[in-house]
Amino acid sequence: MTLCCFSNMTLIYQLIVAALVLTLGEVLSFPLGLEKRDSVACGYQSCHPTVPGMLNVHLVPHTHDDVGWLKTVDQYFYGDRNDIQHAGVQYILDSVVDQLLKNPDRRFIYVETAFFYRWWKQQSSSMQQTVKQLVNEGRLEFVNGGWCMSDEAATHYSAVIDQMTLGLRFLNETFGACGRPRVAWHIDPFGHAREHASLFSQMGYDGFFFGRLDYQDRDSRRSKKEQELLWRASDSLPAPMADLFTGILPNGYNPPTGFCWDQLCNDPPIRDDPELEDYNVDDVVQRFLQIANKQAEVYKTNHIIMTMGSDFQYENANLWYKNLDKLLLHVNSQQAKGSKVNVLYSTPSCYLQELHRANRTWPLKMDDFFPYADDAHNFWTGYFTSRPALKRYERISNSNLQTCNQLEVLGGAASRKGPFGEGDSQTLRKAMAVAQHHDAVSGTAKQHVTNDYARKLADGWQRCQVLVSNSLASLSGSSAPRIYCDLLNVSVCPLTESSKKFSVTVYNPLARPVVWPVRLPVYGSAYLIKDPKGNSVDSQVLSVSKATREVRRNRGHAANELVFQVQAPPLGYTTYSVSSLQGRPSSAASPKRGAPTSIQNKFLQVNFDPDTGLISGLSNLETKQSINLTQNFYWYNASDGKNSESKQPSGAYIFRPNSTVPFVISRVAQTETIQTSVVQEVRQWFSPWVSQVVRLYADSRALELEWTVGPLPVSDGLGKEVITRLDSSIKTSEMFYTDSNGREILQRRKDFRPTWQLKQSEPIAGNYYPINTRAFIKDDVDQLTVVTDRSQGGGSIQNGSLEIMLHRRLLYDDYRGVGEPLNEVSNIFPEGLVVRGRFMLSLDRPDSAADIYRPLGQEEVLQPLLSFTDGDLNGNTQLEFTGLKAALPPAVHLLTLSQWDADSVLLRLEHQFQISESKLNSQPVTVNLQKLFSTLNVLGISELNLSANQWKDEMTRLSWTPEKEEKPYLKILEDPSAWEVTLRPMEIRTFLVRVSFK
Ligand SMILES: *[C@@H]1O[C@H](CO)[C@@H](O)[C@H](O)[C@H]1NC(C)=O
Ligand SMILES: [Zn+2]
Repeated sequence: MTLCCFSNMTLIYQLIVAALVLTLGEVLSFPLGLEKRDSVACGYQSCHPTVPGMLNVHLVPHTHDDVGWLKTVDQYFYGDRNDIQHAGVQYILDSVVDQLLKNPDRRFIYVETAFFYRWWKQQSSSMQQTVKQLVNEGRLEFVNGGWCMSDEAATHYSAVIDQMTLGLRFLNETFGACGRPRVAWHIDPFGHAREHASLFSQMGYDGFFFGRLDYQDRDSRRSKKEQELLWRASDSLPAPMADLFTGILPNGYNPPTGFCWDQLCNDPPIRDDPELEDYNVDDVVQRFLQIANKQAEVYKTNHIIMTMGSDFQYENANLWYKNLDKLLLHVNSQQAKGSKVNVLYSTPSCYLQELHRANRTWPLKMDDFFPYADDAHNFWTGYFTSRPALKRYERISNSNLQTCNQLEVLGGAASRKGPFGEGDSQTLRKAMAVAQHHDAVSGTAKQHVTNDYARKLADGWQRCQVLVSNSLASLSGSSAPRIYCDLLNVSVCPLTESSKKFSVTVYNPLARPVVWPVRLPVYGSAYLIKDPKGNSVDSQVLSVSKATREVRRNRGHAANELVFQVQAPPLGYTTYSVSSLQGRPSSAASPKRGAPTSIQNKFLQVNFDPDTGLISGLSNLETKQSINLTQNFYWYNASDGKNSESKQPSGAYIFRPNSTVPFVISRVAQTETIQTSVVQEVRQWFSPWVSQVVRLYADSRALELEWTVGPLPVSDGLGKEVITRLDSSIKTSEMFYTDSNGREILQRRKDFRPTWQLKQSEPIAGNYYPINTRAFIKDDVDQLTVVTDRSQGGGSIQNGSLEIMLHRRLLYDDYRGVGEPLNEVSNIFPEGLVVRGRFMLSLDRPDSAADIYRPLGQEEVLQPLLSFTDGDLNGNTQLEFTGLKAALPPAVHLLTLSQWDADSVLLRLEHQFQISESKLNSQPVTVNLQKLFSTLNVLGISELNLSANQWKDEMTRLSWTPEKEEKPYLKILEDPSAWEVTLRPMEIRTFLVRVSFK
């Protein structure tokens, strides 16, 4: 191989010839080289040839560019604050393009579209042309291609699909088919979710590579040569819909030892001048051959992959490529002397293609890759809960984004530009996409970076608020100023606190009606509430609790909360008016000291222990089920790393309690009780830093537990990890269940992994799993389900018990790079962050529990958005609106409705039940798209893959054969007609829908 520099010249020559061709048309025959330029040979066609009888080593030059971690995403892009970490993505892309042009054999992959997009915008059109050519020739290849490389433990599938769609859309629109990644690439996330694999399959990826898995799992897979496998990622979708070929990279995502040639590394360069003293080519070649042969022993084919790069490498790509060129030259020149090793520049898709050509069978994997431990006492299960406030803010922001998207469609162009100015959904969409990064919502970034993620979400929401206000103005015919109250969870809302008369509009982003409890901070003590038809609505005024007064600090002063339930139509809003009844005697319900023996509504009864004030039992009055149930709060003392067995402390990533028994915060709760017709509350006070409201609304099938935790005291020098634990009489046998990214359920067994013999070394942390939206325990008759409002970690350590970690405050860094202890303080909480959240608990029969918790979970994820207008609304205001002709069937969830371009919208419909989860709902269901919308005509529909970057009928994937064949395979379900689409359990279908307003 020669190192050449004529490539650049060829390009210039080609451009000149291209211009000539344009003028002379067909007169000229194509000169050599031009043909190559015009014929697109990217993807699998552009791979370098391999040598059949040899070990082929695929070198994959790559950089891993975190979308924020030790620096903010902006600091990383520009290479700012190199005092924190030397990293500048703009220089990486500049340098790589330059180096790719120097030698057409070279390859590079790029992953994070959030960065690539910024860089692209700043390039000249000639540079853009050059890059397009590199992409068209497969020399620069996009892999993964989402906005970021998402976290897998703390993310919700809806936000993951959105962030992938955003990145992949940019790539398709910029580069066409050659910009479509064939491979998913999650080299850094700290454990891998089965639902991610299922989503990647449905996005059309041919394969998936990652770097991190449990060290015991890795050892076992290495010895069995099972580091390459077929992941069957769904219990419901028939194979091969959710089958994903999965490869585990040999060395995380780093180069082999001794072969790191970046400016960030210290390995010796290839010194190839034989006249010089320190000539080292023979040594380099020998070391390389040794590593390659060793690596080949633990993989099945005569192809192996090496990742030549790491975090933020290739800023001076010349260093890497100059040495890689030489490595190829010298290693391959050994073939003349009988070496059977062939090295080539490659990409993950080229490597994947060779594995596919090997035409063999692969072990089947049905569970997931959680939890991840890199050694006996190092379980990465702390980040399931780390930064609980950010995790909740991210989840609410998703809800707000979906509302914003929907109202952009329903309100039309008037929503983007209207009486309240110009708004957009794109700012929040991008902020949400950034927040999915594996150091963002995971809670593993530095504090100033975390603040930046939150600021971006807040900025995005500001832009969306304008859009939402415009849209509601257009739909309702009233341009009255509209106020949003983002602090209602701590009873703060200046308008409702001060106004004598106002309206509240509740927008419901779900495609079925919901009954939603509204709680508003108020000064008065008696109010008249009217629904849109003018009927008065039962309401109650409750005094604000001590816990709420403490947590809101000086941000609000209302003495009371006004509580009533609204009925919101599907994909639409309802407006209720509220007026203060002055001069009436106070009707505010004030609390009575102590706990009642029980509270109940028509569905549930909750018992309390009068001695302790704790919950003692739960009954479902409809199904006549009853369990003993105790709930309390505890804290684990975090390891400080001074332990002789292991120096590992608990930190942002790692959970390592220093004892298996947590400390109880208080055996008894001080309690007070308020019982009204709308809601009943038992307010429990455990300590100055833990309190809870046990709350039962009149029409709710679930019990709300609103917990408030913080500031965690650390003046005793002990890091604390706070859990709540539910101990029940349910007879579990070392098993509990968690969701995967908010969708399918996985069974978890104590001290057990389905695919290898576990040696358990951390009895608590090693039994923790991510809980994204729900977890449950069950026996033959009872299922207790907890729906959460954010991602958290949890486990079932004792039979009948379920614990969930709520908050963590730690005094030591855990040596995984972030370099800060997880010790959150803020301006409002200088003595330590206070976090509030809630659980929804339900008790049902196991065979019908999903009928309750699936819709309940969706209400928690896509919650109604409240907005307020002061005073009287004008008489012509339309007080109610639904965007749907009729509610969707209970099994169907409207996952996405967002504006795509001027006259089309992106629509995703989802079957939200698993197979055999519900007698009622686990059946295929058909929806007529033409009869969907009330205000939009559907003019045409085209189906897309899940990430909307390929037409469904063009989607072909490489097929892979498992070692043991499992039947049944996919049966085609015909849609009844062109407008009717059938969804099977857990299926998501994505459509581009051409619409016009009626
Ligand atoms: C991909 O982008 C091209 C333009 O580059 C466009 O014509 C095509 O419709 C896009 N494909 C999809 C599935 O959106
Ligand atoms: Zn990373």
